Amino acid sequence: MASEPTIEPPSEQGTSHEKSPEQQSIDFAKYPSLQKNMDVESHDGREDKLLRYIYGHPKLDSELRGSPTAILAVMDEFAAQEDFLINIGSNKATILTNFIHEHKPRVFLELGTYVGYSTILFANAMREANHGGEKIHLYSLELDPLIASIAMNLVNLAGLSDIVEIIVGSSAHTLRRLHDQGILEQGSVDMIFLDHAEELYKPDLELCEKLGFVDKKGCHIIADNVVRPGAPEYREYVRGNPRIGKSWGVPALIMPGEFEDEIEISRVA
Ligand SMILES: C[S@@+](CC[C@H](N)C(=O)[O-])C[C@H]1O[C@@H](n2cnc3c(N)ncnc32)[C@H](O)[C@@H]1O
Repeated sequence: MASEPTIEPPSEQGTSHEKSPEQQSIDFAKYPSLQKNMDVESHDGREDKLLRYIYGHPKLDSELRGSPTAILAVMDEFAAQEDFLINIGSNKATILTNFIHEHKPRVFLELGTYVGYSTILFANAMREANHGGEKIHLYSLELDPLIASIAMNLVNLAGLSDIVEIIVGSSAHTLRRLHDQGILEQGSVDMIFLDHAEELYKPDLELCEKLGFVDKKGCHIIADNVVRPGAPEYREYVRGNPRIGKSWGVPALIMPGEFEDEIEISRVA
């Protein structure tokens, strides 16, 4: 994966690009999966097909087992060639890998696992960034038990089961349970990734605040798809939140298809 410059906030809090994603055209030769009907984008059997695609891969034993990066590359290949996948994709993956390498989170909370693409990416980056150091842990929350099972399978194939815990249930329910059972302690979370449902970003961040999960100074909260499909209410909330020192948009592409979007990164003061 190519290296990227440091993702630092701009001097003024705010958005760093203006171009509408609708202005772009799709390269169907590069991304034949996008020629299919896109009325339904997930949870329609394509996730099972992905699992079979990976286990039927000619390089399963020689290259994929135990290799997070090789598994992610096959997921990217499937999304481009077979069926679009609603994961962060390769462009955002590069940006967020560099961000994790830079900030070295040890406790990571992800809302929205899907088939485990971002989970595998983050856990691998955390392991690379914290080599030989303290214990690292990634909690990833997923509503759909069957989708979560696919993610668990792929996390295991990638050799990351010791770091990753995928928890099935609605985000709000699981967050409360992690708090009430003392599994996640107040002020212990270094990084949160919101990628489950845009309309839940604000209420779930408010819940995280109430439960003490964003108490640590320097904790980063990252939200995907704040431009496409968009999370204006969330953006307004984090940018006006006294707990947050800085909040800024990072231009990034939704892959495959290369649609323009932004990731919102917020840093607890
Ligand atoms: C965009 S996908 C996540 C993609 C993943 N982060 C990646 O990049 O590989 C959103 C996922 O969030 C799940 N989801 C939706 N609402 C949820 C909720 N309230 N709690 C937990 N998961 C939820 C969906 O089932 C779906 O699998």
